[in-house]
Amino acid sequence: MAATALREHWSSRFAFLMAAIGSAVGLGNIWRFPFIAGENGGGAFVLIYLVTTALIALPILIAEIMVGRMGGQSPVNSIYSLVRTHNKSKLWVWMGIGGTVGAFIVLSYYSVIGGWALNYTTIALGTGFDGLTGESSGALFSGMISAPVSLMLWHTLFMGINIIIVMGGLHKGIERAVVFLMPLLFLLLLFMVSHAIGTEGFSAAWTFLFEPDFSKVTSKTYLVAIGQGFFSVSIALGAMMMYGSYLDKSTSIPQSAVIIAIADTAVALLAGLAIFPLVFTFNLAPAEGPGLVFVTVPIAFGEMENGYLLGVAFFLLLSVAAITSAISLLAPAVAWAEEKYGATRRKIALIIGGSAWILGIASVLSFSDWSEFYPLGFFGLYEGKTIFDTFDFSVTSFVQPMVGIMMALFVGWSLSREVVLDALNITEGENRVLWVSVWLILLRFLVPIAIVGIFVRALWPNLL
Ligand code: PHE
Repeated sequence: MAATALREHWSSRFAFLMAAIGSAVGLGNIWRFPFIAGENGGGAFVLIYLVTTALIALPILIAEIMVGRMGGQSPVNSIYSLVRTHNKSKLWVWMGIGGTVGAFIVLSYYSVIGGWALNYTTIALGTGFDGLTGESSGALFSGMISAPVSLMLWHTLFMGINIIIVMGGLHKGIERAVVFLMPLLFLLLLFMVSHAIGTEGFSAAWTFLFEPDFSKVTSKTYLVAIGQGFFSVSIALGAMMMYGSYLDKSTSIPQSAVIIAIADTAVALLAGLAIFPLVFTFNLAPAEGPGLVFVTVPIAFGEMENGYLLGVAFFLLLSVAAITSAISLLAPAVAWAEEKYGATRRKIALIIGGSAWILGIASVLSFSDWSEFYPLGFFGLYEGKTIFDTFDFSVTSFVQPMVGIMMALFVGWSLSREVVLDALNITEGENRVLWVSVWLILLRFLVPIAIVGIFVRALWPNLL
């Protein structure tokens, strides 16, 4: 196992923030958030999302980065060495294992959707979406997802890019990629939003996103918001622990975590402000589910004046966001295998990325040949769920809440206050200690209770 003292570090705080924001900002923000907000009452959902992210996801994010820095290794070995040093139960290692395996599973299907984004970027670059109607756009999308061979090629390209970046290691791979790609992502997003501001549908979009209609809110809305926050802020899958492990002791973790959470939320909202004005300008449906970005939005690109440029920008944005998240999903397992087997990073990145690629084939086929294959369908909860749905549902409803609750209990209850203060580099008596107390209270009480709610809802959907 690598000694902590020899640990590589980020070359700058900027590089760390770009990597962590890159992990957080992904398909979850640009593809998922807008349609989830659309389905759950727009502004009311956004408001609930802001509150739950600040009170539940953010405290876990701080804990995760901190635990990563304390351990200074892959998530599994970080926790392993922490429980040894602090004399805690070995059972805690399950949060490292769960997160790492969960990230691997997410990576397998994330790469398939990332492939869709790459494919749509080339469609945008080629013919644009000229002349698409509701029907032909739907047909374009279902044609894409039901053609396994081409889907596989895009999945291969997407995974290949990730493997190459992770092979490069921390400085030459991850840092180099994020320091270039994240500013590009922000520019593309600003370009899209500034265009959207000038469209007719902007005020309707604004109302939709920010005017809360609480009549649509039920207890389910809260749980959906919490789940979306977990996924979007990249917690409970080892990624942030991994990135925290490269952080030097002088960087403030709470401050960094606040920046990451704010940037992530801002991108989700800006993505909404880039997409919904187009949807409203062309009288399309805002609550279109997963097809919103791939079916509805292209119709608008096809109809508008600068549609070509915007279409290219949008799908490039989506692809970049997906890549910078996927590398953080691959890194935890690669780091673990590197520590365990001592083989070269290149070889390990190839083997682990290649295995995730193979697993991803099952998700590719979930949209065509295996679209009626429900592996756990005999189980009420998994009725009608394809392999792709099964992976997504299992990780977001069980693995992430489990790892999240363990993280909250580990830092909130198991580690002592002194250990935590020392890990955060804060001394008793400073003003910041008050914030630490608030954070610990959230981790001890609110976070676990909220997560139990997610479990209950996943297991008995009609109860809450
Ligand atoms: N946060 C990413 C997104 O929103 C997904 C992700 C989750 C990445 C967890 C890493 C870890 O798409």
